[in-house]
Amino acid sequence: MKTNKQIILVSRPKGMPTIENYRFVETTLPEVNESQVRVRTLYLSVDPYMRGRMNEGKSYVPPFKLEEVIAGGAVGQVEESRHENFKAGDFVSGQWGWQQYTVTDGAKLFKIDPDRAPLTAALGVLGMTGLTAYFGLLDIGKPQSGETVVVSGAAGAVGMVVGQIAKIYGCRVVGIAGSDEKISYLKAELGFDECVNYKKSGLPKALADACPKGVDIYFDNVGGSVSDVVMQLINKGARIPLCGQISLYNQEKPDTGPRVQNQLLINSALMQGFIVGNYAPRFQEGVSQLAQWLAAKQIRYTETVIAGFENTPKAFLGLFSGENTGKALVKVSDPK
Ligand SMILES: NC(=O)c1ccc[n+]([C@@H]2O[C@H](COP(=O)([O-])OP(=O)(O)OC[C@H]3O[C@@H](n4cnc5c(N)ncnc54)[C@H](OP(=O)(O)O)[C@@H]3O)[C@@H](O)[C@H]2O)c1
Repeated sequence: MKTNKQIILVSRPKGMPTIENYRFVETTLPEVNESQVRVRTLYLSVDPYMRGRMNEGKSYVPPFKLEEVIAGGAVGQVEESRHENFKAGDFVSGQWGWQQYTVTDGAKLFKIDPDRAPLTAALGVLGMTGLTAYFGLLDIGKPQSGETVVVSGAAGAVGMVVGQIAKIYGCRVVGIAGSDEKISYLKAELGFDECVNYKKSGLPKALADACPKGVDIYFDNVGGSVSDVVMQLINKGARIPLCGQISLYNQEKPDTGPRVQNQLLINSALMQGFIVGNYAPRFQEGVSQLAQWLAAKQIRYTETVIAGFENTPKAFLGLFSGENTGKALVKVSDPK
């Protein structure tokens, strides 16, 4: 009998989550029945949206249930298969979440071609976060050559892809991130034109200097006071793909900042929230294009990989203090 280590949610966080909100449990894995597979987790994805699912209340996906395994993106390898579409050794991705194994009917598994890109790309640049950048920027932002694109959370999984796609489209790209190391990386390695460290004082002036022609597209990953500053710089006809609001996810009370409506009104600007899942029928298109850009080295990426299943909650919490550059992942086991 194989055992399976899992992480379950035991209480709903108030403000910033703590390790006490989670519990490690060990269960016995069921046998693999006819038409089932057993998958061993190689990598787990930790993502800011998971914070929202730890709360009660209405959102675009139901909240996590207490005493259940925390669901989320994962990459794994099939260890045993009694399913005609999978064989032992296949690499797959899915949403089985924070556990070392899953036994499943395979309906929600996607095969990964290990020759196309490193396995972890399926959780990042060729997965959920890459697709978020692709559809949010192109479908809502509609970048035109010569325009100025500002992206917050620029050194994160979504942000770094947004900036590079905007460069491919001929835009001037300005990133906002939380450390000088991240800023150097974005400029030196990924070709961002300018970057601003929002943790230093003087953000309004630094950003205005970085955007002498104003802002045509603001890809908002963070919300809060950073976005308040960017909104003051938008141009007539600006587009604002509203992707994430990480600065607000741990707030216990609703935040009131400068209201944006007047800026939208006087600039005839569009602000549109979106969820990557809205684009599910077009995922193939997005993955093929991203894979082409990746192969042509027009898009590069980095990852922050924390080793050890037991470090999953720590890796998740690190998202809120900016410990990751690029996609945040947990390495659980090695491929065979
Ligand atoms: N709409 C969708 O379908 C969709 C899909 C995926 C992701 N998202 C959203 O997109 C955003 C980025 O996601 P991601 O997966 O790429 O995460 P990520 O950017 O890789 O990681 C989170 C980053 O956010 C920054 N951050 C944390 N707290 C902050 C604060 N208070 N103010 C400003 N920045 C803060 C940190 O970088 P610094 O060092 O720069 O602070 C951290 O590294 C999140 O808001 C997420 O919820 C939306």
